Amino acid sequence: VTGSAGAPRRARPADLDRLAELWLEITHHHAALDPLFTLRQGAGPEVRRLLAAQIAGSDTEILVWDSPPDGLLGFCTVCIDQAPPILQETRRAEITDLGVDGASRRRGIGRALAAAAMAWAGSRGVARVEVRVAAANREAQAFWRGLGFDDLMDVLQRRL
Ligand SMILES: CC(C)(COP(=O)(O)OP(=O)(O)OC[C@H]1O[C@@H](n2cnc3c(N)ncnc32)[C@H](O)[C@@H]1OP(=O)(O)O)[C@@H](O)C(=O)NCCC(=O)NCCS
Repeated sequence: VTGSAGAPRRARPADLDRLAELWLEITHHHAALDPLFTLRQGAGPEVRRLLAAQIAGSDTEILVWDSPPDGLLGFCTVCIDQAPPILQETRRAEITDLGVDGASRRRGIGRALAAAAMAWAGSRGVARVEVRVAAANREAQAFWRGLGFDDLMDVLQRRL
């Protein structure tokens, strides 16, 4: 990583305030792409509870990029999912969140966090990782495809 000394490490409860801030930042980014992602009023405490449960859970890992003295500049959440019992593949990983502080992008932090998340999933014996990326999220589309991620399924929607 150039320009941002630091390293990925596992998130801990003391990170919750800053993690929630980063989480809200990427959610606002998504809400600008599609109102579907608009947060409910007063969602803050719920976000914190969700993140606390993810830190505590054994099938989910939150990796953070810790860059003293600046603190946390990004995070990546990955979980292990059970596949439907009809398939040969029984388990898969999903990266559910990735966000880098707006002022710290294009320095390799996202790539390092995604690599750490995939290493964690690999260490759990999982051979495949999925990520859901909004079609309109240009930088994230470029990011994941640059890391070798490829189309799996189109999620179509229609307003009722
Ligand atoms: C997507 C995101 C996490 C990338 O983090 P980052 O730290 O800036 O990414 P990196 O510096 O590791 O970039 C790795 C590569 O991804 C690609 N990439 C990253 N941002 C890009 C952009 N805005 N446009 C085009 N390609 C981009 C490039 O190939 C880049 O390599 P390069 O800088 O050597 O050209 C960051 O833009 C972000 O937080 N976006 C808002 C939240 C979000 O959309 N999250 C993803 C949800 S699925």
